[in-house]
Amino acid sequence: MSTPSTTKEPLIRKCVVPAAGLGTRFLPATKAIPKEMLPIVDTPTLQYIVEEAVSAGIEDVILISGRGKESMVDHFDLAVELEAVLKARGKDEEFRKLRAISELANIVSVRQKEPLGLGHAVLCARDVVGHEPFGVILGDDIIDSDDPGIRQLARVYRQHGLAVVALMEVPEEETHMYGVAAGTDIGDGVIRIDRIVEKPKKGTAPSNLAVIGRYVLPPEIFGILETQQPGAGGEIQLTDGLATLQKTKGLLGYKFKGKRYDAGDKLGYLKANIAFAMKRPELRDSLLAWMAEVVRTGQP
Ligand code: UTP
Repeated sequence: MSTPSTTKEPLIRKCVVPAAGLGTRFLPATKAIPKEMLPIVDTPTLQYIVEEAVSAGIEDVILISGRGKESMVDHFDLAVELEAVLKARGKDEEFRKLRAISELANIVSVRQKEPLGLGHAVLCARDVVGHEPFGVILGDDIIDSDDPGIRQLARVYRQHGLAVVALMEVPEEETHMYGVAAGTDIGDGVIRIDRIVEKPKKGTAPSNLAVIGRYVLPPEIFGILETQQPGAGGEIQLTDGLATLQKTKGLLGYKFKGKRYDAGDKLGYLKANIAFAMKRPELRDSLLAWMAEVVRTGQP
């Protein structure tokens, strides 16, 4: 896949990364470790997210963190002692990799005192974002694409001047697990949304287009979220805020290009590990050979 020109970019300067959830689907691992810090091969999910934001030209990453999740911020800080040891032992490659992480982006950490929902997590970034359009990338949602997912959305935002959410087709029997949007296809993968609902009951989804963890939003969303009542699951849902935005200003969806992994879900996490391991020359052949043997025998 070719990467489009970057001459006019960055398209947005700030990106909010909600990562303050409890990660209950991943207990007991998430009792003391944030799910966003669980590794995909050897790299925390959150690092893939921040790297996506950076490769889209984003300067400030606003990390929404919660109690017991300080390791997320530490991961992007200098590791002075560790770096000194690596230097002293001549581990230059490892040293460079570690240093590069701390130089990736300007990480601004904002605490969500209670995990009241994704909409509330985004609202926590209000003062840091200010009055400009911004991106949102969920801290447990990976898109593997040469053209960063959030940059794809930012281009749609620039072209149409309307909020845009990432959409992905899912099997009908899975729609109840997502925000789901329906509308009119206006070309080039862009949908003008006329209905968006969070976790519709089975058999009631307006389409099979699920909203996944990438958004580019105008600052008006904050005023909407401020008065937003709790919705599905008793949480302040971003989708409900987007439904209001759709009615007042309009809302677009974009069928993004790339492979998406829900690293907050056990199966999605395992798939992400295999997919990213297969990109590593030192792992690929042995992993494929082992998987072929597992398929052949039905045994690990
Ligand atoms: P999820 O719903 O996947 O996260 O939210 P969760 O609530 O931690 O997961 P489970 O269902 O209990 O396993 C998507 C992203 O939004 C963040 C999460 O940390 C995750 O990265 N989030 C969710 C917040 O920052 N605050 C919240 O109140 C809820």
